[in-house]
Amino acid sequence: MSVFLSFEGIDGSGKSTQARLLAEALRARGLVVCLTREPGGSAGAEEIRRLVLEGAADRWSTETELLLFTAARRDHLEKTIRPALARGEVVISDRFADSSRIYQGLTRGDLRDTVDRLHALMIGMEPDLTVLIDIDPAEGLARAVARAGREMRFEGMGLGVQEKARDGFLALAATQPSRFRVIAGARPAEAVAADVLAAVLARL
Ligand code: ADP
Ligand code: TYD
Repeated sequence: MSVFLSFEGIDGSGKSTQARLLAEALRARGLVVCLTREPGGSAGAEEIRRLVLEGAADRWSTETELLLFTAARRDHLEKTIRPALARGEVVISDRFADSSRIYQGLTRGDLRDTVDRLHALMIGMEPDLTVLIDIDPAEGLARAVARAGREMRFEGMGLGVQEKARDGFLALAATQPSRFRVIAGARPAEAVAADVLAAVLARL
């Protein structure tokens, strides 16, 4: 049964952890799962990921950044997501277009209208279900900093920006309640995973 699921949330909210746990739980139930991520998820998109996440903070304008994220998403869709759905798999993407709506549309830039138009033009599809992992930004930031590595262009943006992103995600979820499930992330990973699995099984 092909179904497209995405995880969204601020940095350090636990998306990657939960995407992995969900993939394991669904595979244990006999489903074929394609676990993927953005930016990235295909060879070309992973190359774009390096361009956009590494290097100096002022390397790209918000407009250029949006074009790069959209180019990466288009390649991800063509090379990974659509083929997996065509094979009847469950696709789980760690971030998808809602991240562009929030970051390029609201916190890193003010391009929400452009994000939507570019999405309609080049992507034109939404997940069947989006799990929003909601967490206090102070907690998310502490987790993200503890894990600091090379992909630092977007980290260290400060608590105010993370607050704005969290509020943006919650507001977006409220406008599309049939697609979004909001799940509290500041709990042990297993407790969060149980709620995620229940929400996904209800949708399947
Ligand atoms: P994201 O993908 O949203 O940035 P991650 O899943 O990579 O988040 O988690 C960020 C960090 O927090 C990682 O070091 C991870 O091990 C840790 N972590 C994830 N989930 C939890 C949790 N429920 N409680 C405590 N720490 C967590
Ligand atoms: P990610 O690797 O998911 O970071 P994290 O694990 O810390 O949540 O994503 C890297 C950064 O890219 C993250 O700060 C969000 C940003 N991003 C955008 O700004 N726009 C987008 O369209 C996507 C997919 C990600």
